[in-house]
Amino acid sequence: MPFTLEMARSALAKFDAVVEKQKTYLTDLDSAIGDADHGINMSRGMKRVIEKTSPKEYADFVSLFKDVAMTIMSVVGGSSGPLYGTLFMKIGQKLGTKTEVSVEELADALEDGMKGIMTLGKSQAGDKTMIDSIRPAIEAIRANLGAGDAAALNAAVSAAEQGMADTIPMLARKGRSSYLGERSIGHQDPGATSTCYLITSLRDAAAGS
Ligand SMILES: Nc1ncnc2c1ncn2[C@@H]1O[C@H](COP(=O)(O)OP(=O)(O)OP(=O)(O)O)[C@@H](O)[C@H]1O
Ligand SMILES: [Mg+2]
Repeated sequence: MPFTLEMARSALAKFDAVVEKQKTYLTDLDSAIGDADHGINMSRGMKRVIEKTSPKEYADFVSLFKDVAMTIMSVVGGSSGPLYGTLFMKIGQKLGTKTEVSVEELADALEDGMKGIMTLGKSQAGDKTMIDSIRPAIEAIRANLGAGDAAALNAAVSAAEQGMADTIPMLARKGRSSYLGERSIGHQDPGATSTCYLITSLRDAAAGS
């Protein structure tokens, strides 16, 4: 089962919908350990992404994701704008001028995106960030490819959900939440939560659901 350009567009629409649905929840998570704007940021960014990309034709992944990245970077300030912008830019660059790729190639692109976040954010696994749900998802895809694409993507969603929950006991080392020190412990990271939604959106789009 290839992952197609149409699936990528569908995943973006699904991500926009879930971010909108969970906007208050994401902002509530950010109010506990940040500045209460993550839901607002992601909703504003993805709404603009859909407005910008929906009417356009795209010849390949790189042109689609470049538009997505540039839109998010221009509309969303703070940390998550540049970080999500970099994630989508690197995904597009890795998928390149193709219009369909294997799920293994999708995992490689997600890894490039993750590395882009880590370089820009100077962040690592365990810092209580977006990395903590995307990294386990990539590993789960690779570990489960033998069982088929659908199983690999389902495993990615389970791993991202686990990774998101695993941020609760973590001490924040990056972003505003790190200013809280020990008081950041006991709260789920908002960015790891939205990134888990992105992985779920990719799986749902690939499954055609
Ligand atoms: N250096 C970083 N590396 C990776 N992810 C980060 C980093 N800094 C923040 N994040 C992610 O961004 C999320 C916060 O996004 P938000 O939209 O609230 O932007 P923000 O308010 O500007 O962030 P912050 O106040 O943390 O700098 C965090 O939950 C975390 O997952
Ligand atoms: Mg915030």
